[in-house]
Amino acid sequence: MTLSLSAAAPNFAALDTPLLVVALPTAPALDASSQAIDSACGGAIGRALARRDFRGARDETLHFAGAERGIERVLLVGIGTSSDRRLALRRAGAIAARAANRMGVGKLTFFAGAVTADEIEAAGLGLIAGSWDFKELKTPPSPDDQREALAEATILGSDSGELDAGVKNARAIGEGHSLARRLGMLPGNICTPDYLADTARDIAQRFGMKVTVLGRAEMTQEKMGSFLSVAQGTSQDPKLIALEYRKGPGNAQPVALVGKGLCFDSGGISIKPAQGMEWMKFDMCGAAGVLGAMEAIGRLELPINVVGLIGSTTNMPSGEAVKPGDVVQASNGKYIEIINTDAEGRLVLADVLTYAKRFSPSAVIDAATLTGACVIALGHTATGVMGTDDALVQEVLEAGKRSGEPGWPLPLWDEYKELIKSDVADIKNSGGRPAGTITAALFLKEFAEGYPWVHLDIAGTAYTESDLGTVPRGPTGVPVGTFVEFVRGRAR
Ligand code: BES
Ligand code: MN
Ligand code: ZN
Repeated sequence: MTLSLSAAAPNFAALDTPLLVVALPTAPALDASSQAIDSACGGAIGRALARRDFRGARDETLHFAGAERGIERVLLVGIGTSSDRRLALRRAGAIAARAANRMGVGKLTFFAGAVTADEIEAAGLGLIAGSWDFKELKTPPSPDDQREALAEATILGSDSGELDAGVKNARAIGEGHSLARRLGMLPGNICTPDYLADTARDIAQRFGMKVTVLGRAEMTQEKMGSFLSVAQGTSQDPKLIALEYRKGPGNAQPVALVGKGLCFDSGGISIKPAQGMEWMKFDMCGAAGVLGAMEAIGRLELPINVVGLIGSTTNMPSGEAVKPGDVVQASNGKYIEIINTDAEGRLVLADVLTYAKRFSPSAVIDAATLTGACVIALGHTATGVMGTDDALVQEVLEAGKRSGEPGWPLPLWDEYKELIKSDVADIKNSGGRPAGTITAALFLKEFAEGYPWVHLDIAGTAYTESDLGTVPRGPTGVPVGTFVEFVRGRAR
């Protein structure tokens, strides 16, 4: 269940809430409106600040009991000294909602002084993201042990007309985020290529999009030998999914969003070590990002044409599986020598990027948990960004920054192409360890022809193996924000 979110003008004297959240910057000086909220709390906030129990550092929290009725609990959340108030409020929202879930408080009221519609959107997105929880595969605890989940949040603002837009946008994007995270968390035996196709059909039906799903038979007809080579070891039907959203001018070229959808990546014959292999259920986070973005775009009713494309399968070893040394032919005619069956994402995307060309897109952005090398280069902080068009790379970097999903550029120089030259074919699918993120992107570039293209390597950013405070272990929602901000920018 997603959080129900609203905005309201504050009535300080009559606040009635099980939890009042107050977001405060470092060393806050209480202005008129926060003084009003402090009075409503009987001066408790002012006392906490005076005693320096709370200093407003980023992510700092102080929780204290309120009155019998009215304001029952107070949670102060620090937003630090960040110059980006939007992103700071989003963080505070996430921390507050997670705290509310831990406390078992079903409703909260969020106060951050005067807020713009953009800030409401950010705080709302944070609240939705923080309240997100994946419980569907756990037996519910006995009623005595159950804690109420956060179900309702109200953000206090001054002018409610403008603020409604912020709430509406937060809900739309929040739904996209939550969908992507749920799909990421679902295990490989449940979230199969078929499941992703059904999810796409559901989105298409709800928002009037056109959906096309190619299976093994159709992909064979399309001569997608590269994608199909990855699917050779599994009996599950691989899926190439295309979702078309057309609310822009009829003749306007669409933006294409492409996602890697490996529902599980065992490595295939070049099998991965057992340790941590379970994390490879997250190898479909690019695809989840496309579906999440399409959900959000559908809800936002953006006046633009967008095509979402997903290549989905599972990379498994078997007697029939593709093996090192095999040569396959992609749908654009290029021959590929498979050096390592674990470099499968690029094999899938080769045919999906070729397929993208038929939509004559104005820009193509793909997102893929593509290389472990990207985690080594940029850690879990930044997405790797590479492309064939500098202006488009810049536009995507800006969209990432605005959405709190920072990316960082890596060079796509021809010099690196030496590393993926093959003795027997046009190209090989692995250049070994040096510059692994760049050679993977250079491989994709051979298929991203006929349109401006940017590639996002989200291997380090799509999910987290440690609790980040704002996000628990599991999917982060990346790249939904980047996709949505990019498309919104183009729709303006
Ligand atoms: N899905 C993996 C990349 C990955 C690794 C994502 C770790 C998230 C965390 C990808 O399919 C893969 O296995 N890549 C290989 C490529 C290599 C064989 C050239 C890798 O990174 O080791
Ligand atoms: Mn792999
Ligand atoms: Zn993979």
